[in-house]
Amino acid sequence: MSTAKLILEGQEYEFPVIVGSENEAGIDFASLRAKTKAIGFDPGYGNTGACQSAITYIDGDQGILRYRGYPIEQVAAKASFVETAYLLIYGQLPTQAELDKFQRELTYHTLIHEDMKKFFEGYPAKAHPMAILAAMAVSLSTYYPDSDEPDVVNLNIIRMMAKMKTIAAFSYKKSIGQPYVYPRNDLSYIGDFLHMMFAVPSESYQNSDVLERALNLLLILHADHEQNCSTSTVRMVGSSRASLFASIGAGICALWGPLHGGANQEVIEMLDMIQADGGNYRKYMDMAKDKNSNFRLMGFGHRVYKNFDPRAKILKQSADEVLNALGVSDPLLDIARNLEEIALKDDFFIQRKLYPNVDFYSGIIYRAMGIPTNMFTVLFALGRLPGWIGHWKEMHDDPSTRINRPRQIYTGATERQFVPLAER
Ligand code: ACO
Repeated sequence: MSTAKLILEGQEYEFPVIVGSENEAGIDFASLRAKTKAIGFDPGYGNTGACQSAITYIDGDQGILRYRGYPIEQVAAKASFVETAYLLIYGQLPTQAELDKFQRELTYHTLIHEDMKKFFEGYPAKAHPMAILAAMAVSLSTYYPDSDEPDVVNLNIIRMMAKMKTIAAFSYKKSIGQPYVYPRNDLSYIGDFLHMMFAVPSESYQNSDVLERALNLLLILHADHEQNCSTSTVRMVGSSRASLFASIGAGICALWGPLHGGANQEVIEMLDMIQADGGNYRKYMDMAKDKNSNFRLMGFGHRVYKNFDPRAKILKQSADEVLNALGVSDPLLDIARNLEEIALKDDFFIQRKLYPNVDFYSGIIYRAMGIPTNMFTVLFALGRLPGWIGHWKEMHDDPSTRINRPRQIYTGATERQFVPLAER
């Protein structure tokens, strides 16, 4: 086993180096504090491995993403979202019988308790669907008790996957003031979600193959991305042995932020703003480079990818196909293409290795599908759900898991004497 040496104040310390299955090396600093009294300092955790995981592999320099070893390009071209979810959660591709059983279970647990509809009624009409989604995910724990019994753990995993799409669709219906549409057991996972989103009681509703295929692809591409902000949050909360529902609720909150999953909504708002401003995308490119402007090109840049995000490549092509198939022409797509073209040739972006990320094109596809902007991040959450569950399960099943508890470097006042109010 190789080791790494650290010299601190003249004293030499040795630490083991662990190597992953793709030869990624990590210096095992678990004993750092005990040996040296110092801690590792890494704000934003850009160099910190918080766990070992066998779910997803990313090589950000080469633009590689694999789910359980399978390249994202192959999964996106050949799998269904439900199959992908099974792979991420249970570790291997399902046989036909396993997939049928999983699909059946996901179908028969889609209803939420009728009382939960009262929660939806209590929210203001303008409530953001992400707020509702997070609150409802945690609320599931009030109906379905937590247990470490493997059968109950698995049942709660199924419930989480099955009910989340009902909750997501209900949150949309709530936001537009339409009656909730109940799940249908004869439809596929994605078909059922689209039906709950778009059916209205007064009309018969026919799902579109184009929409089903597009959503299948989008959800697969969002299904996991190793230790990103929301997944780390799920693991952080779950490390205290909080329930699956509570941990996923926390993950949804983390995803909501504009620097993470909320970016897909921000991209469309940015493109809208550019269009309303006469389509002058060069002006916004200049603003993105101006350190005094506070403006960032949303949908560009990534903590891990310093090359093309492989998901963005797939989505760029899919955006063309979906818009053509639906007969939609969207001026925002042209602005997006133009921005991408000039950014890829611009020194500022080249030097900082800023490429389009998954959110850059996803919003344009969602828009063409008729999905309102404030639902984009909800769809991201629906896609990311199997990844969050897979990570929660991996951590939950690992007896060596310790509660996550980072340290800090204290920079506040040193000891001083308390001054009573009257003397201040
Ligand atoms: N537009 C303009 N400049 C950018 C952008 C951008 N989108 N992203 C990064 N930069 C610049 C920064 O100003 C910084 O420049 P400097 O070195 O001169 O100070 C440099 O590139 C590095 O940026 P950091 O913020 O340090 O990179 P970090 O890894 O911390 O952040 C992040 C990554 C949050 C994704 C960032 O690129 C960003 O804000 N992008 C826009 C938001 C976005 O699209 N988020 C979605 C990410 S994908 C996902 O979560 C699904």
